[in-house]
Amino acid sequence: MPHEIIAPGTVWLVGAGPGDPDLLTRKAERLIAAADIVFYDALVGPGVLDLIPDSVERVGVGKRSGRHSKDQGTIDDLIVAAALAGKRVVRLKGGDPSVFGRSAEEIAACGVHGIPVHVCPGITAASAAAASGALSLTLRGLARSLTLVTAHARAGEPLDLDWAALARPDATLAVYMGRAAAGEVTRELIRAGLAPETPVMIAVNVSLPDERLIRGRLDALSFLVRAVGANDPTLLLIGAAMGAAEMRGVAEPATEGAFASAG
Ligand SMILES: C[S@@+](CC[C@H](N)C(=O)[O-])C[C@H]1O[C@@H](n2cnc3c(N)ncnc32)[C@H](O)[C@@H]1O
Repeated sequence: MPHEIIAPGTVWLVGAGPGDPDLLTRKAERLIAAADIVFYDALVGPGVLDLIPDSVERVGVGKRSGRHSKDQGTIDDLIVAAALAGKRVVRLKGGDPSVFGRSAEEIAACGVHGIPVHVCPGITAASAAAASGALSLTLRGLARSLTLVTAHARAGEPLDLDWAALARPDATLAVYMGRAAAGEVTRELIRAGLAPETPVMIAVNVSLPDERLIRGRLDALSFLVRAVGANDPTLLLIGAAMGAAEMRGVAEPATEGAFASAG
């Protein structure tokens, strides 16, 4: 694979998608193959990592809920040092780098040293989850907008979210990193006026062999989420479009037998 796609001493932030290597862009695959070094997150799928040639140095900087193997400053420093050493650097991030991916910090750190940075987008978890459930995130008459939020808060602190703005009956809400906070999300959305029977879908390990899609209603969310392991990447999708009957009729499980229906 030619190296030309990455110049020495430059950094590419590359979206790895939700896990399935077939959901990687062709450009991402070329960048991985052309790199001298790849820094990758814990959420990058094993099939994607298999695409990194043996000749390419790989460094896991894995971050997963509650388990940060390297802090963001250290990751920034590693990327910068590799680029300043003249390497072709790929920073491989789960999903899309621009969605709760801290890409801005890495771009800024490179900028301080005059290192050229480029971004290759990836499929974000919300898109992949909707695809697996054969659902539409926006839906005429039911979901006029899509909001992406993170429910990751500092330990012991409440979520700093504008619940009144989020509790819209005509919108889809995608909650990243929301497993632990599912109870608070449910309480606050209902308190802000969202109907308890609003459809939800809990999407776990989307696009991977152990994918699970759990459907139900908002007031059962914190109960349903108990079936999900603490380390399984989990996305909460909330809104009328998640229960659209006409879409459900065409939905097929992405992985046979992995489609759990509840509520
Ligand atoms: C730090 S955020 C990174 C999001 C990523 N940049 C994206 O665009 O999907 C990590 C969260 O993304 C969601 N996520 C990522 N991959 C997922 C997957 N395969 N299945 C379900 N949720 C996923 C989960 O909510 C997880 O806690």
